[in-house]
Amino acid sequence: MGFGIGISGTGMGPRGALENFAEGEDGRGKVFNPQVVVRLLAYLRPYVRQMSFAFLAMLVVTGLTLLMPYLLKVVVDDKIATGDRNGLLWLCAGLAAAYGGLYLATALQQYWLSWVGQRVLANLRSDLFQHLQRLSLGYHDTHIVGVTVSRVMNDVATINELLSQGVITLVGDVLVLVGIVVIMLTMSPRLALLTFVVIPLMVLATLWFSSRARQAFRETRTRVARVVGELAEDIAGVRVIQAFGQEDNAQERFDEVNRANRQVNIEAMSLSFIFLPMIEFLGMLATAIVLWFGGRAVGAGEVTLGVLVAFLSYVTRFFQPVQELSRLYTTMQSAMAGGEQVLKLLDTPPQVQDAPDAQEMPPIRGEIVFENVSFRYRPELPEVLRGVDLHIQPGQTVALVGATGAGKTSIANLIARFYDVSDGRVCVDGVDVRTVTQRSLRRQIGIVPQDAFLFSGTIADNIRFGCLQASDEAVQRAAELANAHAFIVAKPEGYQTRIQEGASNLSVGQRQLLCIARAILADPRVLILDEATANVDSLTESMIQDALRTLLQGRTAVVIAHRLSTIRNADLICVVENGQIVEQGQHEALLARGGAYAALYRRQFGGDAT
Ligand SMILES: Nc1ncnc2c1ncn2[C@@H]1O[C@H](COP(=O)(O)OP(=O)(O)OP(=O)(O)O)[C@@H](O)[C@H]1O
Ligand SMILES: [Mg+2]
Repeated sequence: MGFGIGISGTGMGPRGALENFAEGEDGRGKVFNPQVVVRLLAYLRPYVRQMSFAFLAMLVVTGLTLLMPYLLKVVVDDKIATGDRNGLLWLCAGLAAAYGGLYLATALQQYWLSWVGQRVLANLRSDLFQHLQRLSLGYHDTHIVGVTVSRVMNDVATINELLSQGVITLVGDVLVLVGIVVIMLTMSPRLALLTFVVIPLMVLATLWFSSRARQAFRETRTRVARVVGELAEDIAGVRVIQAFGQEDNAQERFDEVNRANRQVNIEAMSLSFIFLPMIEFLGMLATAIVLWFGGRAVGAGEVTLGVLVAFLSYVTRFFQPVQELSRLYTTMQSAMAGGEQVLKLLDTPPQVQDAPDAQEMPPIRGEIVFENVSFRYRPELPEVLRGVDLHIQPGQTVALVGATGAGKTSIANLIARFYDVSDGRVCVDGVDVRTVTQRSLRRQIGIVPQDAFLFSGTIADNIRFGCLQASDEAVQRAAELANAHAFIVAKPEGYQTRIQEGASNLSVGQRQLLCIARAILADPRVLILDEATANVDSLTESMIQDALRTLLQGRTAVVIAHRLSTIRNADLICVVENGQIVEQGQHEALLARGGAYAALYRRQFGGDAT
């Protein structure tokens, strides 16, 4: 059972799922998907004002970028050539002002874009979180935590990069490019056309880079997902790894994926190392062309020196937007892939939904009835419950017993409607659980799970989880009833002791006592208790038994029982075998019958029939 630590039990191996995730993300690789873009753009809608500020700033940046080389021409031709010192001074001041304006406008543009970007990011994450909370257990069963987390963090970040930065950068870069081309053509068509000879080369280089980069970045994403998967699993399972002395093995496995990741990253980066100098080289080539032909044209009096200077300046500015656009192209690809995944997640309907006319569940008395219930976890999976009939009176304690995998937890899951039955119905107080809101139903049902889950926070916070408005006295009272008070106050910080990740600073028995205290405080009418099988010392065991007795008193309880004491004290014992209830009754009667229960009892507790 030690192997159960971590992410097992998801029905799908974590690596398998991670690979699916990576491939699912990259399989399409569409560069532009209008549907995705339109839906994501909706996130910008509340910030139209700020986006227009950014847009205006961008227009100023573009205008000044285009204006400055022209000012150089005026300086050279009209002021220097004519010796107009006064005008020269003014123009130089004008140039300096234009530079200042350029930096200011750039800063403002970045400020507004980040302002909007961070809000879009937070909103999208909040929507995802809200949706994840609503998704039924059926979703979470089949999806790995790490992958879901990566959706909410990484994918959303790439989308944001495209949404906030991308749109404006795209327009700005295109404007600058077109502007430069037009101005150069007007100044000197011949020199402009000669300079543009490098453009086809640039386009070719960019296309080559983009297609290679697409493959390379796709590969890196897959590899990163593998490293993350390996890391998450090994850290979650570090106890098992250490216990079995498998550190070297794990290290080797990790090094392998790590190496592969390093390799593809280096390859992807070398592409940039080749591409960027290539663009730079083409820029120098264009400069050389301008100098050679321009120089001769100046000599021949065809163009002025100012035009040559302006050309040199325009040419260097021409290549920055080109680089930016090719970068944007790769951003767009990952944003599209991420966007599709995020929208798919947002569009996943919860399997269990409130009926349109769902009522609030009235205060529960505690009668639970299963009528001929059949159930499967997913349509393609076999039935795990078949024809289950069960009648629990208010206030009764029912013990579910049976071999592992028999279907006990599944029965419990149906009472709180974590899943919907495939056939038959489950009623609480005669009300079909599908006709009331999930929230009003679950609020009245307490669940003590098998693996006592505690959140990071203090001990008091964790007990109070079941009833947030409870006073400190009520928390302490619940802890006393659960026999947890003594060990809590023995800790230096008492109720304010912070719980470490995985509750590792508490013993297994202490965790169980805290969960019982939490349930006592919540005081639900119906209690579902998945008894932990962990071995604890006999003193803790008797404290837990005692606490359980307090907890079960006066409420309807369905206990997936492993303790003999719980089973014997139950009002009704149901033996679950292969998805069916094969025997019901009380301890003595069932033993006397000598059927399934008697056999189970002998196997499990080795006792003779007493
Ligand atoms: N989330 C799930 N998705 C798909 N199949 C599941 C899921 N949970 C349980 N099963 C399957 O349903 C069957 C019944 O499982 P269930 O958890 O109800 O058994 P159990 O009686 O509680 O066992 P245990 O005593 O080991 O907890 C098993 O065959 C199990 O593999
Ligand atoms: Mg179970």
